[in-house]
Amino acid sequence: MASAKLARYLPSMPRVLVVDAQAPDPSAIAEAVQVLRSGGLVAMPTETVYGLAARVFDEHAVARIYAVKGRPAHHPLIAHVEGEAQARLLAASWPERASRLAQAFWPGPLTIVLDRAASVPAAVAGGGPSIAIRAPSHPVALALLAALGEPLAAPSANRFQGLSPTTAQHVIKELDDAVELVLDAGPCEAGIESTVVDLRGPRPRVLRPGALDLAALRHVLPDVEAPGGAVRGEETRASPGMEARHYAPRARLILADTWEEARRIAYGLAGTGARVGLVTYEKRTTSVPEKYVLARSLPRDPTQYARLLYRTLHDLDDAGVDAIVVQGVPHEEAWWAVSDRLRRGSTE
Ligand code: TXA
Ligand code: MG
Repeated sequence: MASAKLARYLPSMPRVLVVDAQAPDPSAIAEAVQVLRSGGLVAMPTETVYGLAARVFDEHAVARIYAVKGRPAHHPLIAHVEGEAQARLLAASWPERASRLAQAFWPGPLTIVLDRAASVPAAVAGGGPSIAIRAPSHPVALALLAALGEPLAAPSANRFQGLSPTTAQHVIKELDDAVELVLDAGPCEAGIESTVVDLRGPRPRVLRPGALDLAALRHVLPDVEAPGGAVRGEETRASPGMEARHYAPRARLILADTWEEARRIAYGLAGTGARVGLVTYEKRTTSVPEKYVLARSLPRDPTQYARLLYRTLHDLDDAGVDAIVVQGVPHEEAWWAVSDRLRRGSTE
């Protein structure tokens, strides 16, 4: 069961090892460690999205992450660790709140921002004084971190401002052979990036809503500030690298308020000859023939919706649509991470 096999291996493709998501073959992990130790980049699955990993302490490899992604040098990366003990080595100080969060949510989709330890290369943090740290829960990421014995810098494995990858195929499509090795463990569980919380100020603050929902976070940090949580249109821009336009498909993404409006826009565009994708979360019957528009219906539950969102947008992009019209999601806190990504993806 836990066998690694060489998937497709063509010119301009990275080496791809298919691994069991629950019990990765140690020889595949050993090969990934070898690639990292010789300065290479490895695309690894996490429970949120695939990451493009390099050793935190290998400045040359970290510089390559920026080059491959086309990411501006001031955009900080997230350092991935095995757990709290390793995280403490990356932070200048470790507040009690960090321990509470780590105990409650690690390994898992929560990223903590703290003051950076002097030993951590500034390039990892986009030159800034802080460092973002998380312990991923994906067994493949954990196995890799354990075998390597040191932290990995890993942004999402996509080009700058593009859609995050939730399958190894998405990574290969975006990065070709710019990455030495892809560990393919199938689709990611959460499908949306981690929640980022800044612990440096007097009050903890959510910088990016994500896979860990606010209700769970508040349980452990009752005083956490979550600007934009329930408020429509409000920006969360305290975080470097949180451009308005981000997480965008190639096709133009148009965000509609309602199901009716989404359909009206989609069929209006299709009427002008455009190839159009339509993403809704309410399934309703309709008399309009579906052949003019590629329609996709996502689940009504925010967690299930998030799991499929990027995948659906990737699929519609691959189908060659010119525009994707998305029905706006409910203005509720549980949908915050999804509505944040839809808003950023649709900003021109
Ligand atoms: O789920 C995730 O977090 C994925 C997987 C691979 O772990 N990683 C990810 O990394 O989304 P990336 O580089 O695509 O997003 C990093 C974001 C930045 O855009 C910024 O919002 C925040 O994390 N961030 C990172 N370092 C920070 C810092 N020092 N201060 C404030 N925000 C930071
Ligand atoms: Mg990203």
